[in-house]
Amino acid sequence: KKLLLLDVDCGVDDAQAIMLALAAPNVEILGITCVQGNTSVENVCKNVLRVLQVCNKLEIPVFKGASKPILGHEILGANFHGLDGLGDAPDPNAPSADMIQKEGAVSAMIRIINEHPGQVSLVATAPLTNLALAVRMDPSLPSKLKGLYIMGGNTESRGNTTVCGEFNFAADPEAAYIVLNDYQCPIYLACWEFTCYNKLSWEFCDQWLAQDSDKARFMTRIFKHSLDISKTERFEKEFIDGTGLISCDSYAVAAAIDDTFILETDQFPVSVELTGTHTRGMMVVDTVGVMNKTQKAFIMKKVNLEMFKQMMMAALK
Ligand code: BDR
Ligand code: CA
Repeated sequence: KKLLLLDVDCGVDDAQAIMLALAAPNVEILGITCVQGNTSVENVCKNVLRVLQVCNKLEIPVFKGASKPILGHEILGANFHGLDGLGDAPDPNAPSADMIQKEGAVSAMIRIINEHPGQVSLVATAPLTNLALAVRMDPSLPSKLKGLYIMGGNTESRGNTTVCGEFNFAADPEAAYIVLNDYQCPIYLACWEFTCYNKLSWEFCDQWLAQDSDKARFMTRIFKHSLDISKTERFEKEFIDGTGLISCDSYAVAAAIDDTFILETDQFPVSVELTGTHTRGMMVVDTVGVMNKTQKAFIMKKVNLEMFKQMMMAALK
């Protein structure tokens, strides 16, 4: 089995990504670490528990991590994901917050990866605060990872949060900088523009949500708020080439669970802008080789979308 550790800021697309991983028969999820991002870290933990409950997987441990970015203030994704991060559609029987582990997310991340050296794929679909803190605590951590899969950053300076900033990088630029510099392991990036170019049709989305299952009904409820927003005129522009279903975080999970999912990558050193009037949090891609960095990230370019659709369908079955 593939061993996965997920680091999330459980908004709606994180929920989709988690469900995709839970449905994969070849995967064992060793834990889910939480960080602030789309909503407060307390809400993130509760949201993950709700997702695990609807999937009957409450035995997977959930750990609470950073409540703020390393520097600067929180951005939070409330406009899009709702105040509680899951479309403000509460479950009357949501699991109690007592189920959150006492051990903190950063310690758990270090412990779990050290327990399975060379075997764990770490999937981060959130601001990278926990990952940055973990590598500061244990600099040997990246060398013990099988791979790091990140949803975040951008390749054409297209922002979805600031002018040039993708949410996960813009929400904690210092953390993104540390991770892209210090994780000397294979890094696979599902960047914002890539997810836009690989969106799924609204027809697929309708079929996906229409499945007769508690999971599909749960998704329909939590997704309503952001789905309505996604179909508006403003998003025609933000989504780059018109709207459709962009389950951003699910691409990172899909890449981690099936090695044949990625069909083509660009390979370049990457970093993150930390200053600049408009560019703080923007990912920079060193196509000319002047950054003096040897490590090249695998930037997803082409993926198997048929496989992706099957995984998405299975997630709500
Ligand atoms: C990313 O930002 C968050 O709002 C989403 O959950 C996703 O991880 C997209 O830019
Ligand atoms: Ca996310």
